[in-house]
Amino acid sequence: MSEKTLILALETSCDDTSVSILKTLKGNKAGFTCLSNIISSQTEIHRKWGGVYPTLAKREHQRNLVPVLTQALKESGLLKKSAKKQTSVAKFKVIEKILEREPVLFKQLKTFLLKYKKPNVDFIATTEGPGLEPALWVGVNFARALSYFWNLKITPVNHIEAHLFANFIDKDFNLKPDALFPAISLIVSGGHTQILLMKNYGKYKILGETRDDAAGECFDKSARILGLGYPGGPAIAKKASQFKSFPPGAELKINLPRPMIHTKDYDLSFSGLKTAVLYNFKSQSAKTRKSKEYITEISKDIQNAIIEVLITKTLRAADEYNAKSIILGGGVAANEELRKQFRLKTGAHLLIPPKILCTDNAAMIGAAGYFHWLKKETKSWKNLSAKANLRIT
Ligand code: KG4
Ligand code: ZN
Repeated sequence: MSEKTLILALETSCDDTSVSILKTLKGNKAGFTCLSNIISSQTEIHRKWGGVYPTLAKREHQRNLVPVLTQALKESGLLKKSAKKQTSVAKFKVIEKILEREPVLFKQLKTFLLKYKKPNVDFIATTEGPGLEPALWVGVNFARALSYFWNLKITPVNHIEAHLFANFIDKDFNLKPDALFPAISLIVSGGHTQILLMKNYGKYKILGETRDDAAGECFDKSARILGLGYPGGPAIAKKASQFKSFPPGAELKINLPRPMIHTKDYDLSFSGLKTAVLYNFKSQSAKTRKSKEYITEISKDIQNAIIEVLITKTLRAADEYNAKSIILGGGVAANEELRKQFRLKTGAHLLIPPKILCTDNAAMIGAAGYFHWLKKETKSWKNLSAKANLRIT
């Protein structure tokens, strides 16, 4: 193992195309410096559907991967023009076969590979799952093509685990297991909501998870009902922050359910909350539905309800398992009120990623991938596939 490892990481599991270059700080088990973390978001494209549309996501990943890779290498100082003009036709034939379902990507990649040299990276980390199958495949096949062409190993990464590893970027990673574990982890995103017991790096047990919608999905669907657009989390958070009670400090008039808050298990459920939002909205007059008072108040209570359930269950798990730390990750962990409430309510060591690393990004894939790389958990381009329903183990 070289003194410093350079990681090329890819992420395409949902609607963000991202490429990152990470460098380890010292030898094994040290921290990372993020040399680049380019994220091309498709939010504008999916906005009119009110959610992520898988075939559109696939199309956009195909278009974006090469420009995003080029930018990531450029920012890291690793983009070098190739002196060689000729590359074997046979090699491109193999790549064309790997990318037979992504012809747009193949064309762009071929031009790129003819123009630029192999970057000085040690391996490729890529998301294998869970996520939207068509979206995952684009990233997986792109990783396979690069791996073959540049003769680099691939470390497949679980997207959920990577959300946790977003906490260990640009930090001294010498967080000794003794100081952190056992930890309770809460992953809250648009696709997943899970409470995990983390006994060490790479050792997980799912304590509970949502039985229906993810917390982020509840934000998104509620925002759609209220006409607040996509993605719903930031839209609802913004409206909630504008809420002013009258008289100041008065309790909210709207009182949405806190699903499963008192159940003894660690499972969660958010689809009933979304339905309650729908019924509440429908019961209002057309004028009220559009009023600032109503929209800000219901946004406040949606946010409160989701946060209360998440915090109550996470802290109960932390208590039961004598957790030394609580580790948050996923898009909903970018929510300002959730971050504030967790800081107020727990004495345990709390790890929350910077907001930009809460939502999907490739840097977190690289960080999680490094741990598997150290354990020699690599694959060749020949036997890597997308796993839409991959579970954390
Ligand atoms: O982790 P992520 O980028 O993608 C998935 O893996 O799903 O999470 C996206 C989700 C969306 O549902 C979005 O509404 C939510 O995270 N989100 C937020 C905030 N920012 C993003 N939810 C609440 N408050 C936020 N500030
Ligand atoms: Zn995610």
